[in-house]
Order: sequence, then structure tokens, then C-alpha cells
Amino acid sequence: MKRILVTGGSGFIGSNFLNLAVGRFPKWTFINVDKLTYAGNPLSTQSLNAATNYSFERVDICDETAVREVFLKFDPHWVIHFAAESHVDRSIFGPRDFLETNVMGTLTLLEACRGQWSSFDDRLFYHVSTDEVYGSLGAEGLFHETTAYDPSSPYSASKAASDHLVRAYYRTYGLPVKISNCSNNYGPYQFPEKLIPLMILNALEGRPLPVYGTGENVRDWLYVEDHCEAILMVADKGKIGQTYNIGGRAEKKNIDVVTAVCDAVAKATKRDPGDIRSLITFVKDRPGHDFRYAIDSSKVEKELGWRPRVTFASGIAETVDWYLNHRDWVDGIRTGEYKKWIEVNYGQRGQSR
Ligand code: NAD
Ligand code: DAU
Repeated sequence: MKRILVTGGSGFIGSNFLNLAVGRFPKWTFINVDKLTYAGNPLSTQSLNAATNYSFERVDICDETAVREVFLKFDPHWVIHFAAESHVDRSIFGPRDFLETNVMGTLTLLEACRGQWSSFDDRLFYHVSTDEVYGSLGAEGLFHETTAYDPSSPYSASKAASDHLVRAYYRTYGLPVKISNCSNNYGPYQFPEKLIPLMILNALEGRPLPVYGTGENVRDWLYVEDHCEAILMVADKGKIGQTYNIGGRAEKKNIDVVTAVCDAVAKATKRDPGDIRSLITFVKDRPGHDFRYAIDSSKVEKELGWRPRVTFASGIAETVDWYLNHRDWVDGIRTGEYKKWIEVNYGQRGQSR
């Protein structure tokens, strides 16, 4: 019997996590605390609304009073903290929201744990973080848990700062914390500003496929469900105060990811792959664009027995199928209808289901 507070559960990874965990652990209760920014979509957790062990609170994690009220009402054993501003390009256009949510929001949650938990026994603050805190690799090498932090973008700098804060709360106050730093996720419910869903939808709609720079930059791709399984394992069996790197052992150049998407879309829609590939357009590079990310996940593999199960080829095929078969979700975002739906159902702010 556990009470789990999930922040950012209406976003991409958080909703996949809840869709997996709420059904798997019927005796645990889950509360989703989410501000519903542009990236939060209640339709992504719609199937949970009938579940008796799931509830939702529309709360900004930077709002100390609202966060304290949620803690008083729910008294969580675990806080699994996904909520963040997560898109690197947006952080370059405007860093402020990133610092506010990712740093001050994390601080607000840490303070709530420290203030509201009368004992730290059986409690956990889990920070879901990113491999981007380590900066950029050259052609060789891997990010290890001991790699020095060297973030490049305002997004990764804000995640690095929040990781440091989480560790500071462990060392200073003995707060039971765990951190995982994961590589690029893809799969259902990802907001179509990130590389893979953007390319799928543009390819389906015959629009240009913008590849930054020369397309030589490398990312390590992980299917989102594999990430969620890793989080459950680390939360359950990982050691307090420790960091775990999580990656897919699937390093790919961006141009190869985009051509794989083109071919998967062509196959799924019975179109000519050459026609879709011809939409690829090289555009101005992202400022401060990290060249390569690659994760050494041997710690989580050896200590906890985790392994990614979904190959890149099958994950891409499944993801293309998902976007093809969930046009209502996609159209809701494209037209902005989902935002209107949120205002009708939840009001401007602070209202729960
Ligand atoms: P996302 O942008 O899809 O979702 C973020 C969620 O947080 C949204 O539901 C949004 O409404 C909510 N949110 C934002 N600001 C909030 C605030 N102030 N108060 C309450 N809720 C707020 O992000 P994602 O891709 O699902 O990433 C989730 C977490 O995982 C982030 O912390 C991110 O840094 C980390 N991460 C992501 C990836 C990836 O590839 N997407 C990889 C590694 C780590
Ligand atoms: O590594 C983990 C990180 O992965 C997470 O912490 C971030 O939240 C998540 O957004 C992701 O960051 P990236 O910047 O790597 O993801 P994005 O999908 O924005 O870009 C992936 C790569 O593709 C990157 O090298 C930039 C490039 N790209 C991206 C877009 C949106 C393009 O070439 N064209 C595009 O249109």
C-alpha cells in the first residue's frame, strides 16, 4: 500500500508512467499533480479517469501553498518528479520558465517533503532527470554516473541545478532521494515539437522535415515504456542517495533517425519512401547544439537487472502506428482544442477533477 505523488503526469513520460503503473498496482494510490502547461494534456491520461486509485490536481509546483495542501491531503510515500519545462529550443528562446519550474519548482517540492514528512522512513523523492546535464561527447566515450556536469542549454543548466539541489537535500537533511539521468525518449503521447513526433506528423502531412545543421549529431534513443520500467525498478530497489544512468544502447545520427521515420511512415501508409525522404530539409543549426550523447547504463543493468526491451526499429514502427491511429489526440493539439477543453473542465487554475 503506497501513495505515489507524480508531478507532470499529464506530459509525455509522466502519462506513460501513470498509464503503466496505475493498472499494475491497484493497491497503490496515485495523484497526478500537473499545471497543464502547453505540454500537459489530460487526454493522455483519459483512460485513468475511471480508476479508483487515480486522481488529478491542477497545481503549479512553484506554488508553495498549493503544494503544501496537496501534501497535507495526500501524504505521499513517494514523490516521482517529472514536471519540467523540457524542450531545449524553447529554453533558448526564453529561459525564465525553465529556471522557475525546473529549479524553484523542484525546491518547492523538496521543501514540502522536508517540512511535511514527520519521518523519512519509507519515503522517497525521485528526480527524473536527463543525460543533457553531462554536456556533449565527441566521437568516442560514454556518460557515466561520475561524469562531471557540463550543461550547454538553459534547459540542461536548469536540470543540472535541480539535480544538485536534490543531492544537497540528501547530504544536508538526509532526505531520501534518488536521481536517474536518461537519454532521449520516444513513443506515444510525445508533444509534436520533439524530433520524432514532429517528423512523423510532417511526413504524414507532406511538410518539410527540418534537420538542424548537417544531421550528424548523435542521440541515444529509448522507448518510453522501457524508461518507465527503469523508473519503477530504481524507485523500488535502487539505493537511496544514488544516481542511475538510463539509456537505450541505440545511438543514432539525427539524419538516420529521420530517414528511419520516413521509411516507417512510407511502409505504414503504403507510399514511396523516396517521396517522403525528399521532404528532408537541412536548416540552421541549434545554438550550442550538443554533438553527441551516449549513456553507460551498466549500473542499472548490473545492480537492478534492467534492460531495454524495445528495439529502435520496432519502437519507431509502433510510434508511427500510434500517431496514425490517434488523430483525435494529434488534432486536439494542432487546433488548440485541447486547451479549450482544459479550461472548460478544470477552469483557469487550481481546480481538481
Ligand atoms: P513534457 O514537457 O512532455 O511534460 C512536462 C509536464 O510537466 C507537462 O504535463 C506540464 O504540464 C508539466 N509542468 C510543467 N511545468 C509545471 C509546473 N510548474 N507545475 C506543474 N506541472 C508542470 O516532458 P517529458 O518529456 O515528459 O519529460 C518529463 C521529465 O523527464 C522532465 O523532467 C525531463 O527533464 C525528463 N526527461 C525527459 C526526456 C525526454 O526525452 N523527453 C529524457 C530524459 C529526461
Ligand atoms: O537527452 C534527453 C533529452 O532529450 C531530454 O532531457 C529533453 O527533455 C528532450 O527534449 C530531448 O532533448 P533533445 O534536444 O535531444 O531532443 P529534440 O527532440 O529537441 O532533438 C533531438 C535532436 O534532433 C537534437 O540533436 C536536435 C535535432 N532536431 C530537433 C528538432 C526538434 C532537429 O534536427 N530538427 C528538429 O526539428
